[in-house]
Amino acid sequence: MKKKLFSALLAVALLAGCSGSTDGGEATDGGEAAGDVTTYNVGVSIYDFNDNFMTLYRNEIEAYFMTLETDTVKYNVTIVDGKNDMAEQTNQVENFITQDIDVIILNLVQTSSADAVIDKVVAAEIPLVLINREPMGTDGDESYAGILDNPTVCYIGADARQSGTFQGEIVADLPDHGDINGDGKIAYIMIQGDPENVDAQYRTEYSIKALTDAGLNPVNLYGDAAQVGNWKQENGQTITANALAQFGDDLEVVFCNNDAMALGAYAAIEAAGRTVGEDIYLLGVDALAECVEMVNNGTMTGTVLNDHIGQSHTAVDVAVKALNGEPLDNYYWVDYVKVTAE
Ligand code: BGC
Repeated sequence: MKKKLFSALLAVALLAGCSGSTDGGEATDGGEAAGDVTTYNVGVSIYDFNDNFMTLYRNEIEAYFMTLETDTVKYNVTIVDGKNDMAEQTNQVENFITQDIDVIILNLVQTSSADAVIDKVVAAEIPLVLINREPMGTDGDESYAGILDNPTVCYIGADARQSGTFQGEIVADLPDHGDINGDGKIAYIMIQGDPENVDAQYRTEYSIKALTDAGLNPVNLYGDAAQVGNWKQENGQTITANALAQFGDDLEVVFCNNDAMALGAYAAIEAAGRTVGEDIYLLGVDALAECVEMVNNGTMTGTVLNDHIGQSHTAVDVAVKALNGEPLDNYYWVDYVKVTAE
């Protein structure tokens, strides 16, 4: 997954893709004429502006670009809303191409459309930095050919297996290991993000794997099925309310693939008169500020920091490398961090 690709060819390819414009002068190839200002046009498309986590992420992309500006280098950053619509996002990428954008940062609506988009951007010789939604390879090979084969395309993200594992470990480390009623089982429900998204798949799988790896006995109250919440708070609330109505006190642990859904789950838990940390446990991922607060005051059992600062800064640093014609790795990884009251 972390194969690296450095080559002289790559630098040439990258240089060909850079066309920063110099005010009052000739277009440059990523360089700058003394005394002149070079402005790079950066196009960013985010899958959905309504997503809490991606809102933090995109604001930080913009803010961080501004900190990198100098007297002679400026970044003209355009951020557009994919509106969770792949056709809309494909249009946006096509517009970036016609506008001769110098580098594109892309948070795909649908990772299954990665190839089509990568082909267009590569053909236009524009470097492409994919973020947050990792396109996956086939046949258990997680590395993605569209990234490995294209030296001007890379992915910046966090390994979602780690976040799932941390969620499971937080439960395994509780004094009762998540088995509140002492029947030898951890009765849980799993509230999943967008099932096409590898973050959702891995968090669902690895949170439970961490429990079985610890020798514990997790039991999904819905059989094997995860409840699809598509990363949304309101869905987290409805799913949890239904589960509490159906399973009552039997429900011991609510795993949510992200914090937005955990916030919704908390509203349902509170409405049902249950108390986190006493008769139920609640887990999320992202470490949104309000959820860190909840972990501290005990209304959430734990979350996992999905480091939007580290990821957005890496994405921007890599985009700047591409603009400077420097070689890129295929993959850049940012660690998750466990967040518990301790
Ligand atoms: C985050 C979610 C977010 C999703 C968007 C995940 O990594 O944890 O909160 O909704 O990315 O793709």
